[in-house]
Amino acid sequence: MLPIQRIDYVEFYVGNARQAAQYYRSIFGFEIIAFKGLETGSRDTTSYVLRQNKITFVVTGALTPDSEVAEQVKLHGDGVKDVAFLVDDVNKIYETVTVRGARGLQPPVDMQDKYGTVRKAVIGVYGDTTHTFIQRSDYVGPFLPGYQAFDTAAATESVGLASLDHMVANVGWNEMDPWVEFYNKVMGFTQLASFDDKDISTEYTALMSKVMQNGNGRVKLPINEPAPGVRKSQVEEYLDFYGGPGIQHLALTTNDILHTVEELRKRGVDFIRVPETYYENLEERVGHIKESLDEIRRLGLLVDRDDEGYLVQIFTRPQADRPTFFFEIIQRHNARSFGKGNFKALFEAIEADQALRGTL
Ligand code: FE2
Repeated sequence: MLPIQRIDYVEFYVGNARQAAQYYRSIFGFEIIAFKGLETGSRDTTSYVLRQNKITFVVTGALTPDSEVAEQVKLHGDGVKDVAFLVDDVNKIYETVTVRGARGLQPPVDMQDKYGTVRKAVIGVYGDTTHTFIQRSDYVGPFLPGYQAFDTAAATESVGLASLDHMVANVGWNEMDPWVEFYNKVMGFTQLASFDDKDISTEYTALMSKVMQNGNGRVKLPINEPAPGVRKSQVEEYLDFYGGPGIQHLALTTNDILHTVEELRKRGVDFIRVPETYYENLEERVGHIKESLDEIRRLGLLVDRDDEGYLVQIFTRPQADRPTFFFEIIQRHNARSFGKGNFKALFEAIEADQALRGTL
């Protein structure tokens, strides 16, 4: 077990960081807290840091065509580049994981400014996705060295997003088990659950998934791979358009999903729509829940129950031009599972969207 405390931030590489930041601010309710760019001496890239409760996103764009960010965006479109973990001892973690076989990209290095020092190191995982290890014990600045606090008169209205519940990776054919082994043997994660193509298949397509989590349970990572089916699965569609493996979705928690989704819909977020038949006999399937079933149906939410409780969830449509990355919004009432009972209805709804895109 490795002492990874939690996810520090998730960094997206995007075509236009300034506009992406305003999208996450005005639509998803994230406050822009810090900035890095030409004005702060960064000649190559520009980044905005967004925060809502315990969730921190960084959106980074290229200032020159030969920047690494420009190359990545050309290959993948907008997407998650890095999931950064907060740790106590970067040197120790980096040494441990590289000795165990992780691909080291940046050995431990100090970043400094007037607010103090942050130590970081970077490893590569599936595709071009990376993990940064961050040690920020004696740092008091707005985000990381090199960033300035972002000054704005614009008021940001939160939609009630609270924390990052899990992140999901899509990997290629027969790559799930090797990556499960990587997160187990190298990163010290354990396997929480597993779904095979019998759980996750429709008439046309299938996928397999294993859920990994770190020692303290704060980092949960389901890993998907495509499974054989009559038509092209959503995982294959992702791999084709992203140009390889990567992060498929981030699940964000809320303590009031009715309010959060109502607000997101009002602000223009487009969600996957399951067929009306999903709501027939819903109460018989999931038992009594606190939320009004009429509201659940009106907002297009999905409900699933496990041994410990129930959860309410919904999935956005892809968040960039390519049909790749999307968000899940989830409220847990003690349930710790991932909505297995909704997989079929959900994937049929995704296939209907794929058919419209001509990618099924
Ligand atoms: Fe999910």
